[in-house]
Formats: sequence, C-alpha cells, structure tokens
Amino acid sequence: ARHLLGIEHLHPTEITTLLDLADTYAEANRAGTAPRDRLAGLTQINMFFENSTRTQASFEMAGKKLGADVMNMSMQTSSVKKGETLIDTALTLNAMHPDLLVVRHPSSGAVDLLAQKVNCAVLNAGDGRHEHPTQALLDALTIRRAKGRLHRLSIAICGDIAHSRVARSNIMLLGKMENRIRLIAPPTLMPTGIADFGAEVFTDMRKGLEGVDVVMMLRLQKERMDGGFIPSEREYFHRYGLDAEKLSHAKPDAIVMHPGPMNRGVEIDGTIADDINRSVIQTQVEMGVAVRMAAMDLLAQNLRAARAA
Ligand code: CP
Repeated sequence: ARHLLGIEHLHPTEITTLLDLADTYAEANRAGTAPRDRLAGLTQINMFFENSTRTQASFEMAGKKLGADVMNMSMQTSSVKKGETLIDTALTLNAMHPDLLVVRHPSSGAVDLLAQKVNCAVLNAGDGRHEHPTQALLDALTIRRAKGRLHRLSIAICGDIAHSRVARSNIMLLGKMENRIRLIAPPTLMPTGIADFGAEVFTDMRKGLEGVDVVMMLRLQKERMDGGFIPSEREYFHRYGLDAEKLSHAKPDAIVMHPGPMNRGVEIDGTIADDINRSVIQTQVEMGVAVRMAAMDLLAQNLRAARAA
C-alpha cells in the first residue's frame, strides 16, 4: 500500500507483517541497535492539527531513530490560522517534496482526502472519530507480547466508544485477528449499529468484564460531545471507572490498557493504572515508537519501489 490511512483496508497478513517488523524494532530499541540508515535521505513532515503528546513524540522519535529528516509543523503558528485550507496547506508542503506525511486532524475523513492530493506516503495519526491505525497496531503488539498470541482472546473495550477512533480501529483490527470483543459503555456512549461489527455489547461493567483476558479503557472525550449529554465524573467513575473490585471480574492474569491521555479517577483508578503487575500502559507507549518505525519503514520501501519503477 502507498498510505496507512486506516485498519479497515488492511489484510490480516499485512497486520502480522507489520507487527513482526515492529517486534524486531522494539528489541532493537531496547538494545540501542536500530538501523539508523533505513530512512536516510527521506523527509518526514508531522502535521498535527489537534493536540498530541504520545503520537507526535513517537512519530518524531521513530523517524529520527531510522535516520529520516523530521520536521514538525507547528499548526498553531502556520498559515492555517490565516484561513489557508487543509488541502492548500498540504499542496504547499507537497511542493517541497516530502516523502512521509504524518497527519492528525479533528475531521473524520480529512486525512483520506489529503492523501488523494499529494504524491508522498501519508500516515493517519488520528482523524476525528474515524480511525487511529497506529494506535490499534501498537495496542495489538502490546497484547501479542503480553499474551503470546493475538487470536482467540476475550477483549473488553470500555468507556466512551461513541466518540473514539481508537475503539473503531481496535474493533476492526482485533476482529480481523479473530478475537472476541466486548464493548462496555453507558447507552449514551455506545454507537448505534456497533453490534454489526460482531462485538458483544454490555452496559453493565461487571458483566462485561467477566472472564476477559484484556481490559482496554477509554477516556471520556468531552471535546467531541458537541454540547450533548456529558456524564458527571463522580457518577461515571462509580459505574464505569476501572477499580480493583470491577477488575476482579476479569481473568486473574488480565492486562489493563489505556491509549492515553488518561483521566485518573474518571475512567480508571490511579492505583490500577500504576500496578505494574496488571497495567501495560507504559509498554503501549514503548510499542508506539516501534510500530511507527515499522509503518514508516514499510511505506518507504513501497515508495522507493514505486519511484524506481
Ligand atoms: N493515544 C494518543 O493518541 O495519545 P495522544 O493524543 O497524546 O497522541
């Protein structure tokens, strides 16, 4: 493929290939032996039209570890503030001949649209409520390393499913790899038609967590609630916040995940998030660098092959 825009169009074998390469990069990063010439001579531009800590930092680090020239566009100080459109901004940068364009945008579908206008490889770093493919891939690698496999696991995704691109990408990826997915949310935060994706739907946290291998928590995404119903944080934590009692319904060796940013005391108790025997949240961040290295490496190989043809 030329771009990485979503999980939707990836084949399970493509997912496995990417995770296998990311696994080798994870080990290389620990050993300090990442190949610094893999992306040498290539220019990577990061364009984040929405806030980010993990995704932007790890894309930057991934590019630098593989030797790319990395440029972070500061969208807050760019000419977007003077009214320049996303597409004109992209065409302007495209004229400078970048090789890899990493884009986060608040509108669903914006990154797909942009990819049609440029002649470099585009990686979706999160678009609206649509997809966040590298997050789902790093979650998959974290699960595979913790559980020794990425199939026939029972995985609960809990919280604000309705507004979550992380949930959408994970539901697609974990479903393609033949896992059992349980979605747990208050009715107001459960998207309609989601059962069509083959997931089981629960409104009761304890029932939903019964016997699962993986518990993936999500943040309440108030910025996408558009003035709709916003639950009280105290009430939400009482019913849907992950604490020791609710977690006791999962398997004794169940792992706890969170894509971040995390709101302690809202969707997750701080002691659970920090419990190194259960929480793999920091491993998710570590795997984020490795997965983004693998994604850019594979796209760069395709780009070079296409240019040589
Ligand atoms: N998980 C994630 O996308 O985090 P950031 O918004 O900090 O990049």
